[in-house]
Amino acid sequence: MMSSPNSDELIFFVNGKKVTEKSADPEVNLLFYLRRVLHLTGTKYGCGGGGCGACTVMVSRYDPKNKKIRHYPVTACLVPICSLHGAAVTTAEGVGSIKTRIHPVQERLAKCHGTQCGFCSPGMVMSIYTLLRNYPEPTSEQITDALGGNLCRCTGYRPIVESGKTFSVESTVCGMKGSGKCCMDQEEKSFANKQEKMCTKLYNEDEFQPLDPSQEPIFPPELIRMAEDPHKKRLTFQGERTTWITPVTFNDLLELKANYPKAPLVMGNTTVGRDIKFGNVFHPVFVSPLGLPELYFVDSIDNGVTIGAGYSLAQLSDALHFIVSEQPNAKTQTHRALLKHLKTLAGAQIRNMATLGGHVVSRLNYSDLNPILAAGDAIINLISKEGERQIPLDGHFLERSPEASLKSEEIMLSVYIPYSTQWHFISGQRMPQSQNAFASINAGMSVRFEDGTDTIKDLKIFYGSVGPTVISANETCKRLIGRQWDDQMLSDACHLVLDEIHIPPDAEGGMVEYKRTLLISLLFKFYLKVRRGLHKMDPQKFPDISEKFVSALENFPIETPQGVQMFQCVDPHQPPQDPIGHPIMHQSAIKHATGEAVYVDDMPPIAQELFLAVVTSTRAHAKITSIDVSEALALPGVVDVITADDVPGDNNYHGEVLYAQNEVICVGQIICAVAADTYAHAKNAAKTVKIAYEDIEPKIITIEEALEHNSFLFTDKQIEQGNVEQAFKYVDQIIEGEVHVEGQEHFYMETQSILAIPKEEDKEMVLHVGTQHPTNVQEFVAAALNVPSNRIACHMKRTGGAFGGKATKPSLLGAVGAVAAHKTGRPIRFVLERGDDMLITAGRHPLLGKYKIGFMNNGVIKAADLELYINGGCTPDESETVIDFIVLRSENAYHIPNYRCRGSACRTNLPSNTAFRGFGFPQVSVVVETYITAVASQLDLLPEEVKEINMYKRISRTAYKEIFNPEPLRRCWKECLEKSSFYARKRDAEEFNKNNYWKKRGLAVVPMKFTVAMLKTYYNQAAALVHIYTDGSVLLTHGGCEIGQGLYTKMAQVASRELNIPMSYIHLSETSTVTVPNATFTAASMGADIFGRAVQNACQILRDRLQPVIRKNPKGTWEDWITTAYEESINLSTTGYFKGYQTYMDWEKEEGNPYPYFVYGASCSEVEVDCLTGAHKLLRTDIFMDAAFSINPALDIGQVEGAFTQGMGFYTTEELKYSPEGVLYSRSPDDYKIPTVTQIPEEFYVTLVRSRNPIAIYSSKGLGEAGMFMGSSVFFAIRDAVTAARRERGLAKSFTLNSPATAESIRMACGDQFTDMIPRDDPSTFTPWSIRVS
Ligand SMILES: Cc1cc2nc3c(=O)[nH]c(=O)nc-3n(C[C@H](O)[C@H](O)[C@H](O)COP(=O)(O)OP(=O)(O)OC[C@H]3O[C@@H](n4cnc5c(N)ncnc54)[C@H](O)[C@@H]3O)c2cc1C
Ligand code: FES
Ligand code: FES
Repeated sequence: MMSSPNSDELIFFVNGKKVTEKSADPEVNLLFYLRRVLHLTGTKYGCGGGGCGACTVMVSRYDPKNKKIRHYPVTACLVPICSLHGAAVTTAEGVGSIKTRIHPVQERLAKCHGTQCGFCSPGMVMSIYTLLRNYPEPTSEQITDALGGNLCRCTGYRPIVESGKTFSVESTVCGMKGSGKCCMDQEEKSFANKQEKMCTKLYNEDEFQPLDPSQEPIFPPELIRMAEDPHKKRLTFQGERTTWITPVTFNDLLELKANYPKAPLVMGNTTVGRDIKFGNVFHPVFVSPLGLPELYFVDSIDNGVTIGAGYSLAQLSDALHFIVSEQPNAKTQTHRALLKHLKTLAGAQIRNMATLGGHVVSRLNYSDLNPILAAGDAIINLISKEGERQIPLDGHFLERSPEASLKSEEIMLSVYIPYSTQWHFISGQRMPQSQNAFASINAGMSVRFEDGTDTIKDLKIFYGSVGPTVISANETCKRLIGRQWDDQMLSDACHLVLDEIHIPPDAEGGMVEYKRTLLISLLFKFYLKVRRGLHKMDPQKFPDISEKFVSALENFPIETPQGVQMFQCVDPHQPPQDPIGHPIMHQSAIKHATGEAVYVDDMPPIAQELFLAVVTSTRAHAKITSIDVSEALALPGVVDVITADDVPGDNNYHGEVLYAQNEVICVGQIICAVAADTYAHAKNAAKTVKIAYEDIEPKIITIEEALEHNSFLFTDKQIEQGNVEQAFKYVDQIIEGEVHVEGQEHFYMETQSILAIPKEEDKEMVLHVGTQHPTNVQEFVAAALNVPSNRIACHMKRTGGAFGGKATKPSLLGAVGAVAAHKTGRPIRFVLERGDDMLITAGRHPLLGKYKIGFMNNGVIKAADLELYINGGCTPDESETVIDFIVLRSENAYHIPNYRCRGSACRTNLPSNTAFRGFGFPQVSVVVETYITAVASQLDLLPEEVKEINMYKRISRTAYKEIFNPEPLRRCWKECLEKSSFYARKRDAEEFNKNNYWKKRGLAVVPMKFTVAMLKTYYNQAAALVHIYTDGSVLLTHGGCEIGQGLYTKMAQVASRELNIPMSYIHLSETSTVTVPNATFTAASMGADIFGRAVQNACQILRDRLQPVIRKNPKGTWEDWITTAYEESINLSTTGYFKGYQTYMDWEKEEGNPYPYFVYGASCSEVEVDCLTGAHKLLRTDIFMDAAFSINPALDIGQVEGAFTQGMGFYTTEELKYSPEGVLYSRSPDDYKIPTVTQIPEEFYVTLVRSRNPIAIYSSKGLGEAGMFMGSSVFFAIRDAVTAARRERGLAKSFTLNSPATAESIRMACGDQFTDMIPRDDPSTFTPWSIRVS
């Protein structure tokens, strides 16, 4: 940052150290400052918009008025450094460090197995730590609430919450909710094999250091002195382009506002900051009144309460809680409605940053508070140099009518929220009901009656998220004055609202019919609520609502998840030093938690390094007619712009284009890249590059369009057994149908990151890349630079999640970066922003499944004919592997004697889809379970009965003739049905459904037969390199990548057993093409299997070499033997090798032995669905996963739980939105919702079932992917609940529920009088905002 003579010094503390910044730039945020200026890289970038929590830090401020220190969590990416004058910041490094002492929060997160890739962990630590600073013994509810704004893509949250709960006074080891029995009771938890002892303890809480709040660092006294200084003066920070002014008094603020009427008042910066970042807004001047005491107060008067505009939403919540506790319920309806929405508004960080004033004045169309404030007759108190005035917070204000708004020189001082009166009802509602998601629709409503009657005196209805502002249904309200609060009024009200609030068919944000339905569904909820309220006030006069409707009133409560994890105990005869089978903590877990684990972008700056920002195509299919980079090249800091012409070698390697040349084939394709001295410069310059296009026809976006144009990437793959045509002739019944399964974004928390360093000599280049396949990066870069592979070294230490998304994409991006490094001759740091990552790298393949099923009346399926199409996108990538896997895995657990499955990969003009956990199985299995469910529905059987009937039962051949024994499948299935008490709970659910019209429960059990590894033997080969140094320490290297799954930990366990030395002797540093060449990718659940075999082989070779030495000195120590071995010139280094499983597939003959073994499992989930809104709550999940013998139950359970949660997201909330032009809209956590902590099962039981698998190391099984499909039990439980609703409403028995089962699709499938009432549009008359691409 360049210093300016007009600038004041910015003073704040970070981790107890004073920071004096002489040239503070208002455009710099705390995240950047911590990472790039202070080199504190523990705080991570995950999204840059406050939505993921990866950058959470604690801010502490001293309030001189009440002489108290406030500690609160913030997302550093939205905190301008200039706002920090006088504040103390604590980051994960400041909480504890491996260099000094780790903090109990960090220790427990690590030891409870709450870290996998570790990228979210510092943020998690900071959220829990900040909570503990305020509440050293928090309740479970507080812990869940504190974590609501932190996303984790790996763990499934359960262990993270559990680590937090160890600080809670309510904490118990046992999570068996309400059973009164301890989960440690072995007899209670006996399993099929009664001989087997099961364990439930994944960690030993006796090891935990106690939390001693007195040991926490003190607040810097200097900052107290600064805050209390009576001679404080106005501060001005002058940046490169902007000025920041912090007034010292309130009058000063009024003066500034008069002088700079256009300058935003920066409070929480959660709107201003995001507008700058994502909305391209520029402000030359900022005024920040943060901390001025006049804005912070609560004033309670007879008729209501006035709250200062400076209060953060968290402080507002505290104030409201106090008011609600002091005042009778009837008076605080507005306050309670606000509290309900404050609970779900964003996460704790945003609620602590965002202020009431900022919220009200921003008038966001999705505001959760403004509709309630307006319904509750709130009044805004304004002040300017001219004096004070009041304006109503009403429809005119919210709809931004100029005469009802603030004047540019005015400041909002406070909001007055009146108490409700006796015949007055106020309520707020929103969808979704979960935390950390913008409302897709919300509402604030109020009605005032003539005293003692149900005659409407005044009615107010406001809706959010249905237009550009919060909208008032003013006309409707006027028309209903004087009416009785009865069913006829409701019916009229619904029609009036639908007439008044017009949501056009092509409205931005889509979900048009859903939103229309919710307009009146929410009104209905309010109607019921008021009816109930009237009844309570005068039961004689006003009848109550039907009992069956009562459950419609309540939202789903946010519960703290609990459960039990069970796994085989280690054989008591196993030597104590042997770590195999023990739940050993991830080797990097402590470093994850302290923020000291180094990821690519955490690597220190390299001299001369440049940053890369890419320019991507805005057209799906077009000719590039010109690229004008002149303006970009002229901008400060810009060094070069790289295009296809700069690629010295192959710009199109194996069909994957690095830089688009002449033509673009999808939106998001890289066209050129700007290299500059800072990322900000590169990005600004990239925006100025002008590309001219000429569209090319056809533009193919969807599978349907691909089929029309016969556009495929490869030839079809097919398997067939029996005689399908013949079988259809004699079956009792035939059904046909189709189901769509949309794609999925990987949403690894660490975006794609590359550091490419050109070397001086011999055209060498070194790359540090977060990848699952360093060899592939090496190949791509070598091809692009036109050098042999031996000049390219690719290093990979760890990455912040991958899930398949870092199998091939880093190779392409690595080559893009390498070309830039080559051209500029300087190191290139190329880290994608979240939005670019989501746009460019694509994800899981959308799938369209068409089925024809022939079955007998007893439920036996005799014939199935499947046609499966995936949307492959614009290049081959992994689509062929995915289609292979889809076809081969398509039968799942069922034997259908006459079976045909054909799979095709469509070529479209979307970014190329790629590998993703499960390689197509999570998609195709939805098709399978859907037709099984359809058969059951046709026969009036339970789907579980049809599954049981058709499931493989004895040693069999698959449809492609591979022999297998389904015994573990049967066991998992049986255990799952029994231990989940499926049939009893199903009966209970039916009873519940009978008694509740608007809420329905559903249960489903899904069985699984899954395969691991790759079809070709050579893809399954693996190598390792083991060095023993003369001090006895061991350096272990292998070809596998640590992507969070704990591969390095398992490999250290293997080496420990094989060499018979403690794990502490063994170190794994990184994976690199230098140490282990030609390694296959770490994917397909086979990492531990194949690299484990290679490590085992290497260790056994070394052990054999040492045998003579050991024999000579059997009582010697390891160190003695190594010394002797060295002295005897025994080679202490070797490679180990595993040739790969003998697999093959003959597609001509449609048979083979493509997989070495199967993983089996079963999962049962129970949900409750709110039929009026489409919300659902996951009540319980039981998973039984065949782990054979688990090398590390903690890691394996972590994989199962994490994959389940990712699967659950895939099947329910994660929805990618594409425009008809092929533009991906959903590019941030705001509009792409991965599961949060509040969405995991309330009760979650996971059991690793023991079986035998002699083919794999130590008879283990690869569990990385299998859990994904277990998440579909949630999808089918939802379907079951929807079926119950439809049955009750007399709707058609057969219906299609496509994946994901979003709130929108659930609501629309539960047809009722409200869905019947909404206007529908003729699809031929408009172009929808978004389309389905499957
Ligand atoms: C990740 C994330 C999730 C979110 N989720 C939700 C959600 O679920 N529901 C929801 O309703 N909202 C949500 N929000 C929006 C959030 O509530 C608002 O951004 C926030 O309340 C704005 O307050 P602020 O203090 O940060 O305003 P700032 O960004 O500091 O200021 C916003 C505007 O208000 C003006 N302003 C501020 N104070 C005053 C004052 N006293 N007088 C006059 N003008 C003033 C400023 O000039 C500026 O124009 C979310 C935001 C983020 C970042
Ligand atoms: S990076 Fe700050 S919240 Fe995501
Ligand atoms: S461990 Fe949470 S994102 Fe990987």
